[in-house]
This record gives sequence, structure tokens and C-alpha cells, in this order.
Amino acid sequence: MIRFEDVSVTYDGAAEPTVRGVDFTVPEGELVLLVGPSGVGKSTVLGAVSGLVPHFTGGTLRGRVTVAGRDTRTHKPRELADVVGTVGQDPLSHFVTDTVEDELAYGMESLGIAPDVMRRRVEETLDLLGLAELRDRPISTLSGGQQQRVAIGSVLTPHPKVLVLDEPTSALDPAAAEEVLAVLQRLVHDLGTTVLMAEHRLERVVQYADRVALLPAPGAPLTLGTPPEVMAASPVYPPVVDLGRLAGWSPLPLTVRDARRRAGALRERLAATETPTPTATATATAAPAPSPSRPRRPRLLRKRAPVPSAALPVAAVEALAVRRGRVEALRRVDLTASPGEIIALMGRNGAGKSTLLGALVGLVPPAGGSVRVGGAVPHRTAPRDLVRRVGLVPQEPRDLLYADTVAAECVAADGDAGAEPGTCRALVSELLPGVADGTHPRDLSEGQRLALALAVVLTARPRCCCSTNRPAASTTRRRAAWSRCCARSPPTGTPSSWPPMTWSWRRNSPTGW
Ligand SMILES: Nc1ncnc2c1ncn2[C@@H]1O[C@H](COP(=O)(O)OP(=O)(O)OP(=O)(O)O)[C@@H](O)[C@H]1O
Ligand SMILES: [Mg+2]
Repeated sequence: MIRFEDVSVTYDGAAEPTVRGVDFTVPEGELVLLVGPSGVGKSTVLGAVSGLVPHFTGGTLRGRVTVAGRDTRTHKPRELADVVGTVGQDPLSHFVTDTVEDELAYGMESLGIAPDVMRRRVEETLDLLGLAELRDRPISTLSGGQQQRVAIGSVLTPHPKVLVLDEPTSALDPAAAEEVLAVLQRLVHDLGTTVLMAEHRLERVVQYADRVALLPAPGAPLTLGTPPEVMAASPVYPPVVDLGRLAGWSPLPLTVRDARRRAGALRERLAATETPTPTATATATAAPAPSPSRPRRPRLLRKRAPVPSAALPVAAVEALAVRRGRVEALRRVDLTASPGEIIALMGRNGAGKSTLLGALVGLVPPAGGSVRVGGAVPHRTAPRDLVRRVGLVPQEPRDLLYADTVAAECVAADGDAGAEPGTCRALVSELLPGVADGTHPRDLSEGQRLALALAVVLTARPRCCCSTNRPAASTTRRRAAWSRCCARSPPTGTPSSWPPMTWSWRRNSPTGW
């Protein structure tokens, strides 16, 4: 159904092809998972299937890619729309209409599908993706995860033979991700849909894949195999595979259930060597029991660094209420963040996680209660002053990036933050080694753009840093660099007087870091 024949893609101005010698086929009704570290070219390979590469991105595609027999170099994306449905990494860039229902119908309208069939499929898809209650809502008022479900629904309604999905679960909470993946599996099994999907959260998807295609490094050849075969050699793998590798299991487990079945012998071996330590017991019981007075949504998980008890909170939220239009997004939320503390903010899609972070950085004014960050009221504080108290890496990193080159972005960030010239560039060099000054931020991969946005935010050395749920798009090395920044060891080339920073990030599940 999808065939790559010795394909290489070279973007305009690049010295080397981004991907080369890509040669594989995906038969009808198979789900193939494309994996690899950030920036290796996964989105490039997916774009070559939908025709976005090179028709929209520019650059040169050598070799041949065919989908259902159509050459994607000679067919524009619009001429492939009846066979290929695509969901990109950024659902917002996808939407053409204003409301959920219109968006689900749009793809079918443009293919001239009969109105009664359209109505039926819209209803089926609303139910399938749990969107029925949101059918009349303007898309712009939905949470990131809800928008992602709409984006997936809008490509499902025309019943394409091929689905190309770029990190379809990145903004979804675990339950929503499971539902979407179950839908995909049904499409593959019942309708024979062919799916090619890139995903960083391997623990969610690897067990659904018939085969896995691995791009191990930029420009390296693509390898294809069964999930356990590829996971044995892949530089990216889920935690359960990590355990299997450590334990020397073959074939490797792909799910917790697989691992549990094998774990008997390992458990006995460990029991024979283990002596219980008081520290282990203390750690296990350190998590506070949920108290009835705490707000039920969103949940907060804390990792406390030792802080002097006299330290003033970096952020203090009391009885916060926020309204967004007619929706009461937050009600009676209390939160105190101390210097050096890491807080994971958890909750279902639409629970109000981004709204709480938005209130901390002054983007949304409270309807009740109070918010203080570094002693200031965020929505009444001048941006130049606020950036030193609190920074936000937004869900879409491009919302923060407006210059034409990485170098110009860095200069602007230094200026906005009143930082020493070169501060932002030093952070970029640590998080994104090898990225040239002249690169347009638009031409970075999703994970690279996220790292650039993080560097821009950290340039102001905010006492409190907030982020949304995309660290999965980072490489292990970059996550380590993030952690260093969070733990406050000053990045190379920056002054050593960084204060302990509070870091709060939003994600739907605490696993994966
Ligand atoms: N339109 C473009 N023009 C120039 N270079 C590009 C363009 N799109 C991507 N690149 C570069 O090609 C390389 C691969 O990018 P791609 O987006 O395919 O990676 P990826 O594997 O999908 O990464 P991620 O996991 O971060 O999404 C990156 O170095 C990126 O900077
Ligand atoms: Mg990508």
C-alpha cells in the first residue's frame, strides 16, 4: 500500500540529505510504527507519504514513494486526499472550520460524499472519539488533547485507505490515548486500513504495531522488523524494554503484562540479594495521602528538593477560580511552589492544567482568589519584569518564536530578558548542539523547536518555569539537559548565580521522564 524505493530527501540549503536510502513497504492493513530520536527525519518520511514533502516543505525528493499506486512526487497532497489521511504534530495547523462538527464533515464535503453518509459518519466519529458533548464547540476553545481528537476524527470520516499520523497521542491523557489507539486498531483489523505512525511515547503504542521502522540517527539507514527485534537495538525504547534489556530477556517484553509474566525468576533473584533499607521505605511512603481538602482536579505530584524552611514561596495560588467564556475552568485551586521544587500537574484533557499555568504567567486573569509569583500579581505585572519571575514553554513552541533565524531568536531573547548577549545562544548550544545560526525555526523538527523555546524562556533566568506536556518529543540527551537546567546547575557559559528554580510542568501522565 505504501512503498518507498531508495528515497532520499534533501531540504533546500542543507549540505546533506535528511534521510537517505529509505526502502521499505507497508502492506495493506498493517500498522507500522516509525521510531527514532528527535530530528532524525520521522516527520520527513511521513510527509513524503502524504505529499507534504516536498510539495509544501520544498527540498528535493529522490527515489520514489507510492501510495495505493500513486507517485507522491507527481501527485499533490490534494490529489492524494481520498486515499491518505494525515494528522501532523501540530493539530492547530490542521483546522479549516470553526466548530467540531463542521471540522469532522469538511474532509468529506471536499470529496463530494453524499450528505446522509456524511451525517452518519460524523455521528459515528463523535461517539468513537468521545466528542459528542463538544460537537457545537468552537475548536479554539478546546483543550490541546480535545483538539487532537478532533484532528484525528476529521481524517477518519472520509475512511481513507492509509492513515499517516505524526505523534497522534502526544497531547492526549493516557485514557484518551488508549481510546484513540483502540480505534486505530479497529480500523486496521476491521477495515484493513494501513497506518504509518511516528510516536515518541513508545510505551503507549509499541504493542499495537505489526512492525517497527527505526531511523536510528540522522542520515542512517532505516531498519524494519518486528517490535521485539527492533527494540533490542533501538536507541529509543519504552521503560519496560529497558527492564527487559537489563534482565537479559529474549524476546523483549513490550507490555507490563509481558514483563510481569517473565518477572518471577527475576523477583526471586532480587529477593535473595535485597536487604530492605530504611531509605527505600521512606521514599515509598513519602507521597502525601490525598486529602479531602485538596482540589480533585488537576492533581499535583511533588518532588521536593531540600529547601530552607524560611524560603519564601516562588508561587502562591489561593482559592483560584478562572472562567473561560461560559466554562468554569478552575475552581478553588490552592498551590504553593517553593524554590527548587519540581511539580507535575496532572489531569485529564480539559481538566484545566494549561489554564492554571496560564494564570501563573498572567495570560489568564483570575475570576476569584489570588495568584502571586515572586511576590507579583502576574496579570498586572509588566512583561519585562514578569519574565524574570516566571516563564512558560507553551504547548505549541512556535507561539514563542517569531524571528527568521535561530541566531535572531537568540538575540531577541537576550534583549527581551535583559540578559548578557550570548546567554540564549549558549543554552541553545547545550540543548541543540550542531544547529546552525542561520536555521529558520520553522525548519526545525518539533523536538528541536521545543528545545529552542525552552532556551528562550530560560534566558531570562525565571525563578519559576512552567512547561506543557511535550517533553516526550525530546531525545534522552536533551531530557538530561532539561533536567540539568531544572536542577539548577548552571548551563555552560552562563553566570553561576542562578537561583534555585521551581519547575512545573504539565503532562497527562507522570511516567516517561
Ligand atoms: N522544511 C524544512 N527545511 C529545512 N530543514 C528541515 C525542514 N523540516 C525539517 N528539517 C530538518 O530535517 C531534520 C529532520 O526533521 P524531522 O522533522 O523530519 O525530524 P523528526 O524525526 O520528525 O523529529 P521530532 O521527533 O523532533 O519530531 C531536522 O534536522 C530538521 O531541522
Ligand atoms: Mg517529527
